[in-house]
Amino acid sequence: MSDRPRISARISAISESATLAVDAKAKAMKAAGRPVIGFGAGEPDFPTPGYIVEAAIQAAREPRFHKYTPAGGLPELKQAIAAKTRRDSGYAVEASQVLVTNGGKQAVYEVFATLLDPGDEVLVVAPYWTTYPEAVKLAGGVQVDVVTDESTGYLASVEQLEAARTERTKVLLFVSPSNPTGAVHSREQTVAIGRWAAEHGLWVVTDEIYEHLVYGGAEFTSIATAVPELGDRVVILNGVAKTYAMTGWRVGWLIGPNDVVKAATNLQSHATSNVSNVSQMAALAAVSGDLSAVAEMRSAFDRRRQAMVRMLNEIPGVFCPEPKGAFYAYPSVKELIGKELRGRRPGSSAELAELILEEAEVAVVPGEAFGTPGYFRLSYALGDDDLAEGVSRMGKLLSEAH
Ligand SMILES: Cc1ncc(COP(=O)(O)O)c(C=O)c1O
Repeated sequence: MSDRPRISARISAISESATLAVDAKAKAMKAAGRPVIGFGAGEPDFPTPGYIVEAAIQAAREPRFHKYTPAGGLPELKQAIAAKTRRDSGYAVEASQVLVTNGGKQAVYEVFATLLDPGDEVLVVAPYWTTYPEAVKLAGGVQVDVVTDESTGYLASVEQLEAARTERTKVLLFVSPSNPTGAVHSREQTVAIGRWAAEHGLWVVTDEIYEHLVYGGAEFTSIATAVPELGDRVVILNGVAKTYAMTGWRVGWLIGPNDVVKAATNLQSHATSNVSNVSQMAALAAVSGDLSAVAEMRSAFDRRRQAMVRMLNEIPGVFCPEPKGAFYAYPSVKELIGKELRGRRPGSSAELAELILEEAEVAVVPGEAFGTPGYFRLSYALGDDDLAEGVSRMGKLLSEAH
């Protein structure tokens, strides 16, 4: 019998998605009849708007959509994505610069697989979304963390980025609004970071999936448009999941220079071929329609955001800067680590999150999942009553810590 490992080193190195793990445990407890309130989900709690669903139903009836279509996406959808990008970001792109992917996640994998050679470094601002490190690792790249905290509202400065840059740095990953922190860079900060990247010949991969979810006075700035100096070294990642409540439909895209898009399309043609035509036609209705559905969701999220931040900051030992975008709050719970709570002494945010799930039946994702222990991520994409009940249960429990 061969003594070679059953699973390759490359795949063994991939961690389970911590966000999905919390969600699975919460769902299992719920199924067992316990009244768990989950703040783990990274998806809107609204259904997909009716006109988008109708477009999918019509597409399912058309025989031409029962067949393979071009691996890189339906030409009409690529056109519509190029037009939407001009409309929302003022960024001029041709349909040939668009690759339609199986959700934003596939775009993340493909961009790093396309840009990175072994040893190439990627600057990633921590706290970061859990998928990025795995995608960089799989491509043979090396992630270099640029760690931020609540004192700056989780925003990285040019000085911090410069301190992390080496000869091997190829890519800066720029995510604003951010998952998990909700941080949004101002136009000035975005321009400063983009110019710094351009000056050093870095590529910028920018994940704009939360572009329409910004609150208060915050504004979304596309670094691709704001910093023309980046030229043909910028790749935009985006998708319909968050803007149109379409997480289950699996449509995202990547926009970049022609050579990158062509290479990534070759990869996709062997990995998955075309995204489901029915989903692509739903996405076409979404991106060619107006933004009224997201405007409605945004006002509900804004109300919940304010309620959640206020309630979190009332809990002793919890500090939550105001998130300006996406639908997550990212409070620090560092002061509570090591304190006694119901006869236990949680030594990390992961242990504290587990105790909260067991004792208060509330699921939160610990900061360990995002590269910064000592924090929790709570999604506010859930109903107002559940939100108030969940944070209040957690608050009551945490107030016992001493
Ligand atoms: C920052 C960010 N980018 C991309 C995605 C990908 O979303 P999807 O693959 O559902 O389109 C997500 C989803 O959670 C995300 O939070």
